[in-house]
Amino acid sequence: MPNEWMRGYLTFNPETFKWAEYDSMMRVIEGGGKLTKIEQMTREYYENLAYLMVSQMDSEYVGAYGYMPITYVAPRFDPEELRHVPQIVHDEFVHGTRIKDCLELVGFNADKWIEDHQGFYNFRLESGVILETRPMRDFRVSIFYYPIVCEGDSITTWANFSIFQFLQDRGAGEQLKDAINSSFEPWSRENQKIMREENRHILHGDRWMAKLYKQNPELIQGLFDMWWPRSMVTFGHPASERNNLWRKLGLKRRTNEEVLRDFLDGPNGIHAANENVGLKITPTDLAVASWKSGYYERQA
Ligand SMILES: [Fe+2]
Ligand SMILES: [Fe+2]
Repeated sequence: MPNEWMRGYLTFNPETFKWAEYDSMMRVIEGGGKLTKIEQMTREYYENLAYLMVSQMDSEYVGAYGYMPITYVAPRFDPEELRHVPQIVHDEFVHGTRIKDCLELVGFNADKWIEDHQGFYNFRLESGVILETRPMRDFRVSIFYYPIVCEGDSITTWANFSIFQFLQDRGAGEQLKDAINSSFEPWSRENQKIMREENRHILHGDRWMAKLYKQNPELIQGLFDMWWPRSMVTFGHPASERNNLWRKLGLKRRTNEEVLRDFLDGPNGIHAANENVGLKITPTDLAVASWKSGYYERQA
């Protein structure tokens, strides 16, 4: 059974539940409408929606936990950061909770999911270790397995944090746009709020990257090059069957390649943002070709 992972987390019996007819659901979606409750969904729609939301919720919480230790190094860089960093940690917890509420709304026991997975949210790979198989049972996006904190080296830790916001929050922000435009109304609405806060995180990353690169270009370029393939991999696969299905169901709007290209070349894309930083970043055509060939997957 493909959705074995859901067993024990649904507050209703999916076998006896009266799911919507495919045609009536698609009439709503194709007419540009949004679904608000389970009764309007087919089982296939529900399972895919739940997967996407659990994956986002886990990533938000893992991000929140991962940023907590940054508060120890923050004041070294600017006393104001004692205000900003805990705010960012708080934002990520709130994001996780907003998605948790969306899951509860459709009869998914997210509290139990969190209880069962919370112990793993803190898990990161050792520095220098490459992710081969997903070591944990939560559904976080793979980049969240890599450590941001570098023990005893607050400059690298702070640089990783800034790169993460500049690069990964920007990439995730690009993907959030599809969730905002998705066919499930509560998820769309909550992600609009999330986006506003993510935009602040991205700006925070932009500001620090400009400063840090000026001070220490070699260190920052080296760390950026380490994070780059990991971030590229979060855009999924070029000919993704799952993405095709998600687009058909209105859970996504663009192909993975379109999202990646918008992230690279959009008005607030990475190349545009880099004009104020000056990093050497792989040009778009080469980046897309490398992504398509699976090169980044082998590097990440
Ligand atoms: Fe977030
Ligand atoms: Fe963020």
